[in-house]
Amino acid sequence: MQTEGPENGQAVLRVENVVKTFESAAGTVAALRGVDISIKKGEFVAIVGPSGSGKSTLLNMIGALDKPTSGKVYINGIDIFSLSDSEIATMRNHLIGFIFQSYNLINRTTVLKNVALPGVISEMSGDERSRRALKLLQVLGIEDKAGFKPSSLSGGQQQRVAIARSLMNDPAIILADEPTGNLDTKTGSEVFEMLRMMSSKFRRTIVMVTHNPELAESTDRAIYIRDGVVEKEVVNN
Ligand SMILES: Nc1ncnc2c1ncn2[C@@H]1O[C@H](COP(=O)(O)OP(=O)(O)OP(=O)(O)O)[C@@H](O)[C@H]1O
Ligand SMILES: [Mg+2]
Repeated sequence: MQTEGPENGQAVLRVENVVKTFESAAGTVAALRGVDISIKKGEFVAIVGPSGSGKSTLLNMIGALDKPTSGKVYINGIDIFSLSDSEIATMRNHLIGFIFQSYNLINRTTVLKNVALPGVISEMSGDERSRRALKLLQVLGIEDKAGFKPSSLSGGQQQRVAIARSLMNDPAIILADEPTGNLDTKTGSEVFEMLRMMSSKFRRTIVMVTHNPELAESTDRAIYIRDGVVEKEVVNN
């Protein structure tokens, strides 16, 4: 087993020759055709590529939301798909935060409860959940929205709520699938800056899918995907 830890500057996340094919009525689709990626702790990485190139599929493999057809994903040196389903779920809850383009918030409850929700799964007490959720809303500058329903917030504010929620269980890795895709340029930049802060100030590892070349160039490294393989990697200054 791979045992290299993240603290010695080694990869917190490794994708090894990952292949993913989907069988459907229309035939077989090769979404990923052998992807190799290595990402260090605290690194902010952009995944860029045309529509249908396999970006979301790759993110879903990294977050263990779906299993590869073949190949391996290591998180902190652990081959995640060698774990049982319940071990995978536990690992996901503790190590990984997800942010989606469409926010995926629950509109029938408050902003505070949305942020606090992952704390239920990790068995935090009610008090602890509320305290932590409020603190995260403060970090993201929207604590005044705690009692509102998400649907009454702007897109940028809703995405901040989603970022706060992704941080609830203090994950080492944040996976964001086009987090600025539904936002105007200015609001998108603000959300992007929040993610950058998570990486620079809190040493979270961020993997962000984006169609925005400017944002991709503002990360530590951009990985370009085309037709299910890594086309090139660009290290940014
Ligand atoms: N569940 C699925 N069943 C069948 N085919 C799928 C499934 N998920 C993805 N695909 C196919 O795999 C390929 C890659 O899809 P994926 O969603 O990863 O692309 P993407 O790069 O995220 O695109 P976009 O930029 O449009 O979000 C596409 O051809 C897609 O149709
Ligand atoms: Mg996608």
